[in-house]
Formats: sequence, structure tokens, C-alpha cells
Amino acid sequence: MDIRIKKIENSKLSNVDLNNIQFGKVYSDHMFVADYTEGRWSSLSIVPYDNLEIAPGNFTLHYGQSVFEGLKGYKGDNGRIHVFRPYDNLKRMNISARRLCMPDVPEDVFIGGLKALLQIDKAWVPEQKGTALYIRPFMFGNDEYIGIKPSDTYKFIIFTCPVGSYYSEALKVKIELNYVRAAKGGTGYAKVAGNYAASLLPTQEALREGYQQLIWTDGKDHERIEESGTMNLMFIINDTIVTPRTGETILRGITRDSILTIARDWGVNVEERDVTVTELMEGIRSGQLTEAFGTGTAATIIHIKAIGYKGVDYDLPPVPSDSISNRILDHLHKLQRAQTEDKFNWLLHI
Ligand code: COI
Repeated sequence: MDIRIKKIENSKLSNVDLNNIQFGKVYSDHMFVADYTEGRWSSLSIVPYDNLEIAPGNFTLHYGQSVFEGLKGYKGDNGRIHVFRPYDNLKRMNISARRLCMPDVPEDVFIGGLKALLQIDKAWVPEQKGTALYIRPFMFGNDEYIGIKPSDTYKFIIFTCPVGSYYSEALKVKIELNYVRAAKGGTGYAKVAGNYAASLLPTQEALREGYQQLIWTDGKDHERIEESGTMNLMFIINDTIVTPRTGETILRGITRDSILTIARDWGVNVEERDVTVTELMEGIRSGQLTEAFGTGTAATIIHIKAIGYKGVDYDLPPVPSDSISNRILDHLHKLQRAQTEDKFNWLLHI
């Protein structure tokens, strides 16, 4: 597909310290844009990153017909850019899109747009360990319409942000026993904007109570662990990686899948199953639970240092540098920069 390219006159890069950036606050020079009208994608372009013109009656502003993805590009030793598992993000984006009655984004638009954008903005990929270029593809309904029906027109955009760590230190998290993130039949498995809007108030309450994140529990009994605010969750119990199985209410994390795949490949025991609050609390009391951590594109792996349950905080033991999660994290870092064999063919080289 042809992509029209209009480059920025003066790059903003010289004003940016790529090794010292707040997550999600700095935007690279360009963005990729495609429009869906009359049943097909067209008008593919790369233009300077800038504001969009949106009608006040835009369907998405009112009803949230919007899906997004998050993935990362890394600079390898030879200066080449490696994008981690973009085809999995494409697949998941289309699963999310179908849930909101949106059209699929075809591979040539998603991957073609991504490749062309990164060719142009490759100087924005930071080099230092712990940094990356965060890539944000998203799509929204673009009809100007105040009734409720799926939009006929859509915009698909990819922009990028050089980023450092999403979390700077291990987290203190609260098990949420009142609010619900997702219910069976809902949108929990999809990466839709509304899931994140609905999490704001419960998260703000947890922040006020001194926590940095929530652990969501099931919408029926508040007994089964689901996921964290921005991540999937994993626990090491008796040297086994235990993680809630994904289903209708839990996002199928690509970092989650990467960790489980590497662990299985290394012969580490992995269990994807129901994990109850009772089991967690007993594991902490008995010392059988040795690690808890969140996994996600933005955070990669972040440890949990304490879990709050019914007003009491339970500290977790310190995590040694050679723990299972730290060894997998180290391996992931190497893999993402193509410093070790890409055994599962996860990298797209630009
Ligand atoms: C990601 O990990 O990429 C996410 O989507 C989390 C985000 C809300 C920062």
C-alpha cells in the first residue's frame, strides 16, 4: 500500500534527553495515520505528530469506541531497531476491535505503517538499558453521530514515545474487594479505552490509601485474582510460576505469554489456573509464596513488595537477583535487543 509522507521541518529530537524521560510525556516527530471509509482503509500517510481535528459530536468522545495496543522497539548493539512481537499486537488489536464492532486493521496497514514510521523516526529509539521506544497503535470510531450504532468511519494511528521505566520501584498493591474491572461477557479480555477509564476511581482511592496499584478480583465473589491495573500478575509458589488463566475477563498479555514461554522452555513449572485470595494469603503466611510480580509491555516485569488485604499490609520477602523472575527479565532484555538467539522468532528487524 502507498504511504504519503510529509516530514517535519525541524526535528524536536535535539531538545530531548533520550536517557532521562518521563514515561508517556515525550512524542517522536511523526505519526502514521490511516482512514477507514466506505468499507476500506485508504489515505495512508506519515505526517508530523500533531493535534487531530475532531468534531464535538465525534462518536468516540461520547461512547468510547476506541481500542489500542502497546509494544516496544529496541536499539540493538549494531544500531538496528528490533520490534518485539508486533504480529501478536496486531492479532490482539483485531480481537479488541471485533468486540467493539470495529473493522480489522489489515497486516499491511499495521505492520507496513509501523515499519515506515520507524524507518523515519529511528533516531528516537533510545539506547540505554531500561529504555525503549514505546509504540502506541490505536483506532477509534470517527463518525459525527449522537445516536448509538457502530461508526461507519474510523481512524487508525500509530505514534511513538521514547520511554524509560514505567514504575521506578517495587509496588505496594491493594486487593480490590469492592469495585470490579471486568465481568464475564464484558470487555475485560479486550484492550479497550473504557476499561482504563473505569479503573481510574478505584486506583485513585488505592493511591490515597498509600498503594501504587490494585489487584483486581473476580466480579462475582471477589475471591479469584484477575490482573493488576496495567498488567497481568504472576506468583512464584513452591518454585512454580502460578498465574491466573486468561479468559473473558483477563487481557492476554504478550509479555505474560513471553515469560511463560521462556519459563516452560527452561523447564520451570508453570500453572495457568484460578488463583484465590485465600491461597495468596496462606502462601505469604507459610513462606511458600516467594515472589509476586506484574507483567506488561510498559512495565515488563515489576516486583510486588507488599499486598494490602482488608486493611492489613502483608510484606513479601526480598527478591534475590538470581530469582526466577529476575533471570527471565534479564533474558527478555537481551532478547529484545537481539543479544541472544531469537528462538521463538519474536523480533521484527527494521
Ligand atoms: C502497556 O503495558 O503497554 C499498557 O497498555 C499499559 C498502559 C496503560 C501504560
